[in-house]
Amino acid sequence: MCGIVGFTGRQSAAPVLLDGLKKLEYRGYDSAGIAVMDNGTISVNKVRGRIASLCEKTGDGASVPGFTGIGHTRWATHGAPTEENAHPHLSNDGRFAVVHNGIIENYIVLREELIRDGYRFQSETDTEVIVHLIEMYYAGNVRDALIKTANRLRGSYALGVICSEEPGKIYAVREASPLILGIGMDENFFASDVTALVNHTRNVVYLEDGEFAELSGNDIRIFDCSGREISKKVSRITWDVQAAEKGGYDHFMLKEIMEQPAAVRATVAPRIKDGKVDFEELAGLVPELPDVSKIVITACGSAYYAGCAGKYALERLCRIPVETQLASELRYSDPLIDSRTLLIVISQSGETADTIAALRECRARGAKTLAVVNVVGSSVASLADYTVYTRAGPEIAVATTKGYTTQIAVLYMLAVFFAERLGRLDDAPELVEELQALPRRIQQAIDMNPSVPALARKYHESRALFFIGRNTDYAVALEGALKMKEISYIHAEAYAAGELKHGTIALIEEHCPVIALCCNPSVMEKTLSNIVEVKSRGAEVLALPFRDNRRILSAADDLLFIPDADALFSPVIEIVPLQLLAYYVAKANGCDIDKPKNLAKSVTVE
Ligand code: F6R
Repeated sequence: MCGIVGFTGRQSAAPVLLDGLKKLEYRGYDSAGIAVMDNGTISVNKVRGRIASLCEKTGDGASVPGFTGIGHTRWATHGAPTEENAHPHLSNDGRFAVVHNGIIENYIVLREELIRDGYRFQSETDTEVIVHLIEMYYAGNVRDALIKTANRLRGSYALGVICSEEPGKIYAVREASPLILGIGMDENFFASDVTALVNHTRNVVYLEDGEFAELSGNDIRIFDCSGREISKKVSRITWDVQAAEKGGYDHFMLKEIMEQPAAVRATVAPRIKDGKVDFEELAGLVPELPDVSKIVITACGSAYYAGCAGKYALERLCRIPVETQLASELRYSDPLIDSRTLLIVISQSGETADTIAALRECRARGAKTLAVVNVVGSSVASLADYTVYTRAGPEIAVATTKGYTTQIAVLYMLAVFFAERLGRLDDAPELVEELQALPRRIQQAIDMNPSVPALARKYHESRALFFIGRNTDYAVALEGALKMKEISYIHAEAYAAGELKHGTIALIEEHCPVIALCCNPSVMEKTLSNIVEVKSRGAEVLALPFRDNRRILSAADDLLFIPDADALFSPVIEIVPLQLLAYYVAKANGCDIDKPKNLAKSVTVE
């Protein structure tokens, strides 16, 4: 969703801002703009559409003089994606420019009040109230005006502000929306995420809710919401700049699919010590485990499906009931959650609005909370009692791949870890070996299926695809269908195979593609019957069995092979050929794979 950058230093600001905005393109946007301060004047350039047009308009920044500025990519919520609605927004007196990520919930009341007071609005956005409030409260001190403004705002915001009265300074404010400061040599930055900073610096400060920062070229000062100066830890970004670049692949998505063996290894290996799973970060939770009466997993989209896959292992090994709930539903469901509930909240970005709200709701009801998160320092990570980081590295493609598989890997490890600590695990060494084998098996799943592009050419013109499976295979079907529809725009639905007869089978007709997951031996015979049922109604079946499963091999029309593995953990392997299939189908259809239409990488609105 929206992205923010800010820069102050000794080099021209506009090219730095444009470069930062390009790094944030993956978050999804439909307009962009920059505001740069020069000799006491703020100039604003905005476009509808791509950053490339903004670069063209400004001669790659060369036509915009000045060393201090802010920039923005906007994903439209309030008002259409037009130039007027694009950020930065200017105050009526032209002294302030503001960029904003988030939603101002009380903007209508504020807008009416400001109009009554004589302020003129140029856009339909919720953001514009902010810049007029700052102008209204400004009495010679920007920090004071920001504190007063923030006190009037309800909702979520990461703000970047410049004021023509304060050359060389940029201001950043955070409330429930990500904002990170970058510390350079005689130059400083802020951005919505670290990908926009790593080309310039690896030293960063994660702002927390209610914090303000005042940055000049050689100084960073941070304040709490009452204006008291505070000191914050400087963190070091350890991942490689190349991790956020395509590295010879046509798309980030394909690169990230191929990175999964390494990402899962980086997530699993450091947590296995002396043949046991060990999470040092959960030392405080271990004594509380015997008191846990149920586990609730909550998340959105693929992260929710990762939870669906992980539920089986947690329940089987720990013998604790596990519920999976969509965060957008849980938050409004008056949930039956108390201090004996362990809430596991899963999020790649750590900034998904519904996930954050569900986490807050469950915390308020007394649940113990554990976050499984990829982005270090994100909101979900800072709100939860305990955080286990997946170590997928930066995920740029909007459709998650390595984010999802590393989430499942963590859930499997948690299942083994909890069960072992609860004294409920008999076959720990075998399970730990299975966990260690996951990266290798994911690589095999890639290598064993060179036919994916050809299968994609066979299926890419289909009107609809059905994904079926039972138990753990059903969890994979859910994610397989989501991957297909979000990047190829082909209608794809997942069904628990046993449910077909209860309605869906009416949709099966001649040549209708059915993708059948058949790796779970406890239900394989049953899924086989479902394959026979759909085939006898004319369906073309593409099956995904373990490679030596002769019965499925002879029943299906087409095959993708899964290397042998413990069925409890196999979803993390099964999904990989389906990610590749979705990728190649989307490619055959000429889709914008890394930035599918209408989607954003981190969904910071409800
Ligand atoms: C699908 C996808 C989304 C995310 C969902 C949650 O490919 O990426 O469904 O999984 O928006 O995002 P996070 O994990 O960032 O909370």
